[in-house]
Amino acid sequence: MLPFALVSNIMMPEKHIYIETFGCQMNERDSEIMEQLMRNASYVSTTDIDQADLVVVNTCSIRGKAEQKAYSLLGRLRKAKKENPSLVIAVAGCVAQQDGEGLLARIPFVDLVLGPQSIYQLPEMVAEAQNKNAPLIRTPQDKSFQIPPFLPDLRQGASHKRFVTIMQGCNNFCTYCVVPYTRGPEISRPFEDILAEILLLIQNGVKEITLLGQNVNSYGRDRKGLQQEHSFPALLRAVADVDGIERLRFTTSHPKDLSEDLMRCFSELDVLCPHFHLPVQSGSNRILKRMNRKYTIESYLEKIDNMRRYCPDIAITTDIIVGFPGETEDDFNATMKLLEDVRYHGAFSFKYSDRPHARSTDFDGKVPEEEKGRRLSLLQNRQNEISLERNREYIGKQLKVMVEGESKAAAGQWSGRAGGNHIVNFNCASTLMPGQMLEVLIEEACQNSLRGSLLL
Ligand code: 5AD
Ligand code: SF4
Repeated sequence: MLPFALVSNIMMPEKHIYIETFGCQMNERDSEIMEQLMRNASYVSTTDIDQADLVVVNTCSIRGKAEQKAYSLLGRLRKAKKENPSLVIAVAGCVAQQDGEGLLARIPFVDLVLGPQSIYQLPEMVAEAQNKNAPLIRTPQDKSFQIPPFLPDLRQGASHKRFVTIMQGCNNFCTYCVVPYTRGPEISRPFEDILAEILLLIQNGVKEITLLGQNVNSYGRDRKGLQQEHSFPALLRAVADVDGIERLRFTTSHPKDLSEDLMRCFSELDVLCPHFHLPVQSGSNRILKRMNRKYTIESYLEKIDNMRRYCPDIAITTDIIVGFPGETEDDFNATMKLLEDVRYHGAFSFKYSDRPHARSTDFDGKVPEEEKGRRLSLLQNRQNEISLERNREYIGKQLKVMVEGESKAAAGQWSGRAGGNHIVNFNCASTLMPGQMLEVLIEEACQNSLRGSLLL
């Protein structure tokens, strides 16, 4: 008699899932969740799109470019669907939520459209799509939605670092931003669910956890009656207390919600990495007001100073938009001045783009593309110099580095990450394990990385 596994293999050929993810770490985590759910439904992951029975395109619509990339991949899938009509094509994420029916009008061969709240239903939706001829759209935005208790899959082998989503959505309505419309209102995951997930990860060898949310420092505010005990600093303290955790990070934060208690965590908690990503968006108060950011540049700078008092070696990074509607040369110069005042370790900078639903799409004073490009390159050139100067400050210092892996290009060349999130390259003749902690003496600095010698 054939063993059961063999029989079931013969009866049910393996089905493959291919996922393409655009955008942020939140989306990457959502993709991991969808992949895990489909693995539970007997699918096998593939990196070869031609082998796939199910293609999931997990989209981002925060900037125009990310959205175009998703649509262009979908366009390229037309041929695959024609050749294999049983291929299931699913579009998830923010473009799915935002465009819904419109997406189907544009790409009629898509089978499933699912918004961020519906990713947990992917297996049922795939099964339904296979029995039906019409496409399925699920894009609810329910205020009482609860992120289901969800435990990570460890069968694939836990890597040394993992992302854990702590909340979904955003209530801030910055005028340029599509997120509050696509991801809906802020919904915090229950404290206990987050801790249970982290405990399981750490018990299975994960060393570093990054807490994820659109605005993590407002975590818990939607949890009535529990705001104090279940605030973001309280969560950080509880996670830092998990036995065996070596590093803790979080992203992203809003400056208006950055409390002194959160700053205190940086001096209190050894495992909390000295890195803070604090998007400023503009250095001009007039533009910050038009962006509905709810802080002034003076209050932002005060918070940066205060944070550096709590944690002098903290690496601060930011996001900046240039060419927001109405941005004058003076406003832009205020942003350039801010770079000198803060001296960020790094900055992600973008040309403003109109987004559906975003209020700024209807603002006057649109800045021409060419001018946005000029401002962006001025800003990036100056920031690159500052990043290099900042990195040079590490020369001669000894940093704790978590091993990431060996370089594919050359044996014996390794790279890891310092607490400030810098990539650190070093040589080592022995085999190292990802997640191992080492001491490295920094000897050279580049714009995006450091190089040093391993200290034994
Ligand atoms: N245009 C350009 N950049 C944007 N961002 C968000 N919306 C827009 C937009 N409409 C940037 C912000 C945000 C980052 C994730 O993307 O800087 O912090
Ligand atoms: Fe968008 Fe502002 Fe919310 Fe960030 S805080 S997701 S920029 S609305």
